[in-house]
Amino acid sequence: MGKIIWRSPSNIALIKYWGKYGHQLPKNASISFTLENAFTETGIAYIPKDTPEVSISFLFEGQTNELFENKIKKFLESIVSEFPFLQQYHLDIDSYNSFPHSTGIASSASSMSALALCLCSIERHLEGKGEADADFFAKASRIARMGSGSASRSVYPTLAAWGSHPSIPQSSQEYAVSFEHAHPVFATFKDAILIVSKNEKEVSSRVGHALMEENPFAEVRFRQAATNMDTLISTLHNGDLNTFGSIVEKEALTLHALMMTSEPSFILMKPATLNIIEAIRGFRNEHQIPVFFTLDAGPNVHILYPEAVAEKVENFIEEKLLKHCEKGQWISDRVGSGPKRV
Ligand code: PMV
Repeated sequence: MGKIIWRSPSNIALIKYWGKYGHQLPKNASISFTLENAFTETGIAYIPKDTPEVSISFLFEGQTNELFENKIKKFLESIVSEFPFLQQYHLDIDSYNSFPHSTGIASSASSMSALALCLCSIERHLEGKGEADADFFAKASRIARMGSGSASRSVYPTLAAWGSHPSIPQSSQEYAVSFEHAHPVFATFKDAILIVSKNEKEVSSRVGHALMEENPFAEVRFRQAATNMDTLISTLHNGDLNTFGSIVEKEALTLHALMMTSEPSFILMKPATLNIIEAIRGFRNEHQIPVFFTLDAGPNVHILYPEAVAEKVENFIEEKLLKHCEKGQWISDRVGSGPKRV
C-alpha cells in the first residue's frame, strides 16, 4: 500500500497536431510550450486486492464523477499489459485542476499526463527503483499519449516535441521528447489565456482528428507542418521572434481552416476570437513589440509574449481585450518548469 501524487501542467502547441492514425499516432510532428499555472494534481493510493479486474474509485475536486471515473477505468483496462500491477491493486484516485472549472480550457493534457506519471511512479516504486531518468519520462509520455495525444508533451519543462521529425534528435511517433537548447528568451515567455467562451466544444477533438481522414487539404497540411517545424526550430535556436510569431499565428489559423474545410465543416472560433486577433495585430503593428496569438481547438485566445514586454501587453489586455472575454476572464500563465512529484 502507498500513495503517489503528481502535479502536471497543460501545454500550448506552437506547431499543431491535427490528424492521427493507428493507436493515437500523429500525422505530423508537433511542438509546444509547457505551461506553469494551469495544472492538474492527481493522487493515487494503491491498495492490494484479490480479484484481477481493474478496480478504481475516483474523486474530482472532492466529488464523485461517474463520467470521468468510467473514462479512466476504461483507459486503465486498455493498458493492463503495460502495468500488470493494475490487476493486483485497487486505485483510489483523486484529482483537481488549478484553473477554474468550466473555463473552456482543455484539461486532457494536464490530467492524462498527471495520471500517467502516477502510474509510472507506482510501477517504479513496486520494483524498488527510482524515477528521475529519461526512460521514466519517455514511458510516462507514451502512456499519456494513449489517453490524449497532446498530453504526451506535458511531461517535460519549457518545450516538448512529439512525432518523428528529421530536425528533432531522438524524436518519436510514440512519445514526446524534451526540446533543449532553445534561445533563452523562450523560457521567459508568458501566455495570457483569454476566455472567450466557457461552453463545451461543439465538436470534440476526437471527432476533429477523424475528419482529417477525408479533408482534401490533409496531405498538403502534413507537408506544411513539417516545413513550418523546420522554420520554427531555427527561430527557437536564434531567437528571431518575428518569424517565430508568423509561424505560430499561421499554425493557429491553419488549424481552424482545417476545421472549416472538413466535411461536415465546423467553426470553433467566435466573433470575439476574431476581434481579439485583429486587436493583437493592430497593437503589434502600432507598438512594434513581439506579441502573438495562438488558438487551441476552441474559441479562447492564447497571447504569447516575452517577459520583457509583459507590462505593456497586460495593460493592453486589461484595457482593450477584456470586453471580448466571457465575464472579463483571463488566466495569466507562463512557460513552465514541467511536472512535479508532490
Ligand atoms: O490531444 P488531443 O487529442 O485533444 O488533440 C489536441 C489537438 C490540439 O490541441 C488542437 C493541437 C495540439 O497539438 O495540442
